[in-house]
Amino acid sequence: MPTCHSTNDMALEMVRKHDTVEGTVIITNEQTKGRGQRGNQWSSSAGENLTLSLILNPRFLKVPEQFYLNKIISLAVFSSVHDLVPDCDCLIKWPNDILIANKKVAGILIENNVKGSTLESSVVGIGLNVNQLNFGILNATSLASSSGKEFNLEAVFEKLILNIESYYLKLKSGRLDEIKQEYLQSLYGYKVPIRLREEYEFMGEIVDVESSGHLIVSAKRKVHRFDFKEVEFLL
Ligand code: BTN
Repeated sequence: MPTCHSTNDMALEMVRKHDTVEGTVIITNEQTKGRGQRGNQWSSSAGENLTLSLILNPRFLKVPEQFYLNKIISLAVFSSVHDLVPDCDCLIKWPNDILIANKKVAGILIENNVKGSTLESSVVGIGLNVNQLNFGILNATSLASSSGKEFNLEAVFEKLILNIESYYLKLKSGRLDEIKQEYLQSLYGYKVPIRLREEYEFMGEIVDVESSGHLIVSAKRKVHRFDFKEVEFLL
């Protein structure tokens, strides 16, 4: 599709109309109202990056385990970045930003639809900066900016989808411990002192991420448990 307001909004509308099969991908060259986490905007230059939404039906996932979907999608994007820019300093920033050298290269927005105790459908929105070189903000990067090379968008898309499929099958087959360990090992600040801010700035180390997605940080005086948006990383 050449242009649309937001691939996540389009996918949510299709889900609402029951007009989908699992694995449907909505992809566009340009979004006019791309959405990010916490109600933010997602801006991306037309034709230079990947902006897509994937529809999944993870009915095998119980609601308290829903963060596993964020973990596998983060790992799939992280692995794709690693495959494409092999020597880069790539990490996942909790809950699901992908960084290269502490700058954001990809963002993920997952919107779940719960039925009873399981996930009925999920819209997985991914914005991966590929060939864009100028962002107008300091803390963003792309595969091209960090490697000095230009990428074929179709080849990047193919790699990303194959990685998502492989991690999704891992999740479906219940390999939760393996996924958790892989996610933690790829996480910015895992067992490494980092600067964070709640009300005040403090130093701490991430020691765990619970199935619910809560972040566990060990600091000098106590162990903190944070929900989304309750803590900020000072990169
Ligand atoms: C974030 O804030 O980090 C999440 C960004 C998610 C952006 C993607 S681009 C494709 C999909 N459609 C949207 O409107 N948002 C997501």
